[in-house]
Amino acid sequence: MDKLIIRGNVPLRGEIRISGAKNSALPIIAASLLTSAPVRISNIPHLHDVTTIISLLGQMGVSLTLDERFNIEVSANNVTCFDAPYALVKTMRASVLVLGPLLGRFGKANVSLPGGCAIGTRPVDQHLKGLQLMGAKIAVENGYIKATAKKGLHGATVPMDLITVTGTENIMMAAVLASGQTIIQNAAREPEIEDLAKFLNTLGAKISGAGTSTIVIDGVKELKEGSYQVLPDRIETGTYLIAAAITRGKIKLKNTRPDIVASILTKLAETGAHIETGDDWILLDMKDNRPRSVDVSTAPYPDFPTDMQAQMMALNSIAEGTSTITETIFENRFMHVQELQRLGANISLKGNTATCIGIDQLQGAPTMATDLRASASLVLAGLAAAGETSVDRIYHIDRGYECIEEKLTQLGARIHRSSNRTEGN
Ligand code: EPU
Repeated sequence: MDKLIIRGNVPLRGEIRISGAKNSALPIIAASLLTSAPVRISNIPHLHDVTTIISLLGQMGVSLTLDERFNIEVSANNVTCFDAPYALVKTMRASVLVLGPLLGRFGKANVSLPGGCAIGTRPVDQHLKGLQLMGAKIAVENGYIKATAKKGLHGATVPMDLITVTGTENIMMAAVLASGQTIIQNAAREPEIEDLAKFLNTLGAKISGAGTSTIVIDGVKELKEGSYQVLPDRIETGTYLIAAAITRGKIKLKNTRPDIVASILTKLAETGAHIETGDDWILLDMKDNRPRSVDVSTAPYPDFPTDMQAQMMALNSIAEGTSTITETIFENRFMHVQELQRLGANISLKGNTATCIGIDQLQGAPTMATDLRASASLVLAGLAAAGETSVDRIYHIDRGYECIEEKLTQLGARIHRSSNRTEGN
């Protein structure tokens, strides 16, 4: 198993390019199942999760061709299997995103239940409820969602009981080829939802309102071919901005979008960071100052994202003052707390709120990644810590951060990957 070794306490400086968004690329690749015509997708990030969804579609008979720049051409003109097996779903919950497209186009799908994970129980009841309202027959047997719609799906009003990102995406994808109109109420408003809708509209779908809490989908008979570029990754953007803030550095991020990280920029400005933005770039300069603590409470977009909570905690752990961080989306997303404590962070937990008393200096230590964003917070803490920090089980970070050590090295960080095997432990 690989780990990252970081020798911290170096202010990051320089420029890097932000990759395409993981949480946009995954639904967009899954949505390619909705057409038999060829679809070209660019700005796909080179990540384990993307490889997993490519394998999943490949097993179904979809042809996927990748060029050297990781642009993908997908052709779902010979789908022979309608299953998402446990072996793949257990490695990536987002595999459940094939449920809506398979049911919408073929009237059948057999998808393993994703189950819980390190950050919470994460049920999919809202996905299933919405599909049933659209006429799907669903049975959950032996850990599998067996869904059929022999006469195809029909439009329906789908009121979501809570805001769910992949739930909204599954219903939206299922509704594209359904007969009549579907209205999703209390829809998630994340930029990745809007990106998926834009992609589907490029292929001839009729979706309006994506990015607001009411999405209207008028079913069409079929989708045609098309090309689409995935939007930049706002969580990768936020993570590198914090890397600059935590090391009192100055960096410029290119190929990103300031408008989709507004809540993160607001919080970083509160820490004392100087921020400048253009259409597709963000510059953050700490002017060598120690950041000030900021209180954060996570909530669905456009508020502060749960996917940035752990990274913000790393920043607060060395900031001036005391802060509270409240997690409202997932019940168990604090696994990074005890790892950050190994570096000396002064954090206490009560219910869904962490209180963090900023200390002057973290000290490097061996740590263990428990999930994707938790592992990012450990890397950030390691960048600020004196001495050496190791982050074990780094496969978590490879699910969501393209070339992380290369990008950080480009910014002046002292970081490398090492294989436990070669070190004999
Ligand atoms: N929920 C239900 N029932 C459902 C669906 C969701 O109770 O049917 C609950 C969940 O358990 C959770 C809350 O609703 O407490 C929100 O979950 P949501 O469905 O929005 O999460 P998701 O769609 O499974 C996506 C991202 C996550 C991100 C969350 C929240 C993708 C592939 N994943 O997950 O990304 O944290 O939205 O913004 O888009 C990550 O990238 O590290 C990551 C975990």
